[in-house]
Amino acid sequence: MKAKITLLPGDGIGPEVVAEAVRVLETIASKFGHTFTFIERLMGGCSIDKYGSSLIDETLADCQASDAVLLGSVGGPKWDDPIAKDRPERGLLALRKGLGVFANLRPVKVHPALIEWSPLKPEKLTGVDFLVLRELTGGLYFGWPKGRDVKDGRERAVDTLEYYDYEIKRVLDLAFKLARQRKKKVTSVDKANVLESSRLWRQIATKIGAEHPDVELEHMLVDTASMRLITAPALMDIIVTENMFGDILTDEASVLAGSMGMLPSASLGSSGPGLYEPIHGSAPDIAGMGIANPIGTILSSAMLLRHSLGLEVEAASIEKAVDESITEGCRTLDVGGKLITRQMADEIIKRL
Ligand code: IPM
Ligand code: MG
Repeated sequence: MKAKITLLPGDGIGPEVVAEAVRVLETIASKFGHTFTFIERLMGGCSIDKYGSSLIDETLADCQASDAVLLGSVGGPKWDDPIAKDRPERGLLALRKGLGVFANLRPVKVHPALIEWSPLKPEKLTGVDFLVLRELTGGLYFGWPKGRDVKDGRERAVDTLEYYDYEIKRVLDLAFKLARQRKKKVTSVDKANVLESSRLWRQIATKIGAEHPDVELEHMLVDTASMRLITAPALMDIIVTENMFGDILTDEASVLAGSMGMLPSASLGSSGPGLYEPIHGSAPDIAGMGIANPIGTILSSAMLLRHSLGLEVEAASIEKAVDESITEGCRTLDVGGKLITRQMADEIIKRL
């Protein structure tokens, strides 16, 4: 097959890990007889530096016109001024909105060989394999009004947690659909004891749950969920939640897998290209050193093959190669090893 993939390496360690995922995809292309065309664009801080904007229209249009988008990471201290007009993260949010990718899939799996590396007790981690489905284009990140002003002589800042019924429904529909391919359990996470938007969320979840009697639905408050992720993570299957809760819970969940560097994500809309990115950030402290863990991005490229190109066998072959490399002791620094970024990718490519 032929596919056009837009690369947005971004800032910090982004370019280092994306380069390795591209090598993996090129290997897959030659092994399976596909042609992948890569176009590289700027997004994030690097785009602010070059164009004065974190995401320019042309870049968004190029992303929209491709089959899939592979992103590294954005942000860094250079662009962290709290009163700056533009920030790298704004580009990322505009990209998610512009691609209409409302569903963010973040699978969390603990590799048996990395159990000792997690700060949790080993018995808690056995069998951990769940998926966080994070709503990605609504909620506090996008609600209006938003901004700063002066009211009654006081400086004020406002963010709005807003959800329309259709935004909640489409992500919950997907949760139940995915549950049927997994262990048939959906944990819907909200804060319905306090937030109106969460009460609407829970009402819709209950209704959709009733339409799926074969899938178990449990409602959980977000504070409880943050505790359960640590005390009983193996009981989770699909966690579906609003944008901000999902952001926070997935960083917490990454600790289970041993390192943020391990986890991939896929962001999907109802049509159009998907957006694929590791869940880690730009890690400015190690940027440019070539030591970042490329696994999160390499696994994101596997998700790209599966969800945007329908290449299940190819996707599974990447996941298997990653799995084997870890089983056989290959480790980057973040999980207690000595391999640098490129060597880790070499180990994976060798096993494809
Ligand atoms: C993530 C990140 C982003 C988010 C930031 C960089 C805007 O933390 O993808 O989880 O909050 O969505
Ligand atoms: Mg985050």
